[in-house]
Order: sequence, then C-alpha cells, then structure tokens
Amino acid sequence: MDIDTAPAHAAVAPLPLDEARSQLRALLAGEQDLVANTANFTAFLNSQLTDINWVGVYFLRGTELVLGPFQGLPACVRIPVGRGVCGVCIERGEVQRVADVHRFDGHIACDPRSRSEMVLPLRYGDDVIGVVDLDSPLPARFSAEDQHYVQALVDEFARAGAH
Ligand code: SME
Repeated sequence: MDIDTAPAHAAVAPLPLDEARSQLRALLAGEQDLVANTANFTAFLNSQLTDINWVGVYFLRGTELVLGPFQGLPACVRIPVGRGVCGVCIERGEVQRVADVHRFDGHIACDPRSRSEMVLPLRYGDDVIGVVDLDSPLPARFSAEDQHYVQALVDEFARAGAH
C-alpha cells in the first residue's frame, strides 16, 4: 500500500454495529480523561471505516472550533463557528453530509485528497460540545447508512468518554 494514500490500520470491513458499539464501550470503560478517550475514539473510527483519509474531533471553545485528537494529516487548528463544513455543522447543530466538498461553499481544505465529508455534532447532555469530522478521498463516500452507523458510535462516545 502507498503510504500517502493509506491511513494507519486501514479497515478491511467494518464490524456489525452492535459489535462495534460494544468494542468502543470496552475501549472507553473506566477512563475519564477526555484527550485519551477522544484519541482512542478517533483511532477506533479509523479502524472501522474504509476509504477515510481523515477522522477527528474539533471541540467548541467560545466562538471557535479547536482541533482535538485525530487520525490523518495535520489539519487546521481553529475554525470559526459558521465557517466550513465543521462550522456550519456546529452552528446548525445538524449533521452535514457533503458528497462533493468542491461544491460546498466555504469548504476548508485541510487535506487536498478529501473529496467528500461528513460532520456530526458531538453532544454531551443538552450541549453541543464539538463535532466529529470524517473525510474521504472518494466522492459521495458517506451514505445515510454510514451516517446511522457513525452516529451510533458518536452517541456511545458521548455517553462513555466525552466528559
Ligand atoms: N473540511 C473541514 C475542515 C476540517 S478538515 O477537513 C480536517 C471544513 O470545511 O470545515
């Protein structure tokens, strides 16, 4: 595999959701450190999803999103609320599933290989505390089914590790 195109521990196939959820729960069990849990959460997502070139978390700090643990190339550190796919996701509190990032007005290109993107709000209780961002080098990589799968894992992370 070409080191420029393959993330570390690239997934062969994702586990069934129930199994993935229990593995994630076990991975986070007993640990309360947010950085450690977020790091393992992003590594776990990376291990479960094929054709992903970047996956990570941005945390809301005032009026900006600030880069947290991730898997992939170095990325932009601060994103104002309302800017880029991540900023729109946190502003609206809604999942953004972008089939072609080049057609998304204001898209911020951190990794030039990214062609499609999915960003999900990260909620803790009633608060939106950040976003989970996934990028793919393939156009239209993320289906509604993928959204459902990743959302379930984000919910598990929020319950177990995002505090
Ligand atoms: N593309 C994102 C920026 C973050 S990187 O993809 C890691 C955006 O438009 O908000």
